[in-house]
Amino acid sequence: MFRDHPEVSLAEWERRKQFVGFTAEDARLLTELRQMAVNCVDSIVEELYRRWFLFPELRSVFPDETMIRRVKSAQKQYFIELTYGDYGEEYLAKRLQIGRLHKRIGLAPRWYVGAYSIYTELVFPRWWRSSSRTSPRPAAPSSRC
Ligand code: HEM
Repeated sequence: MFRDHPEVSLAEWERRKQFVGFTAEDARLLTELRQMAVNCVDSIVEELYRRWFLFPELRSVFPDETMIRRVKSAQKQYFIELTYGDYGEEYLAKRLQIGRLHKRIGLAPRWYVGAYSIYTELVFPRWWRSSSRTSPRPAAPSSRC
C-alpha cells in the first residue's frame, strides 16, 4: 500500500530522482555493486567514523561506546541496502525516518551533507580497485576489498 509522507510526497520523490537523472538503469547498476559493498563495508564505515570523530562536536553526539557500536552496525546495514536496487516508497520511508532521527539529535545539515562527501571519497577508490581486478567494466567487483 503506497502512502505519501508529510515531508516528501511520492510524486515529489520521483521528481527528485528525475532531477538528478536517476533511472531504472542506475538502479540496476547499483545492484552490481552489492559484492563490493559487502566486502568493503567494514573498512568504509570504520574510516567514516574515524574521520567524523576528528571533530569533537561530532564525537560528542555519541554518549557511549555501546551507542557507537549500535549506530555503526546500522550504518553498515544502510550502506549495503543502498545496493538492493529498489528505490521506491519503502526506500523513501527509511530515508525519511533516518533524516528525522538526525534532525531530532540536532545534527546540522552541513555535517550530514559533509558526511556524504566523505562517504563518496571512501567508496570510489574501493569501487575502482575491486572492479579493475576482475574486469574492464567498472561495475563488476571482485570478492576482495
Ligand atoms: C552519511 C550520512 C549519514 C548516514 C547515512 C547515517 C545513517 C544512520 C543510520 C542508518 C542510523 C540508524 C538509524 C536507526 O537506528 O534505525 C543513524 C543513527 C545515528 N546517527 Fe547517523 N548517519 C549519517 C551521518 C551521521 C553523522 C555525521 C553523525 C554524527 C557524528 C550521526 C550520528 C548518528 C547518531 C547519534 C545516531 C543514533 C541516534 C539515536 O538512535 O538516537 N550520523 N545514522
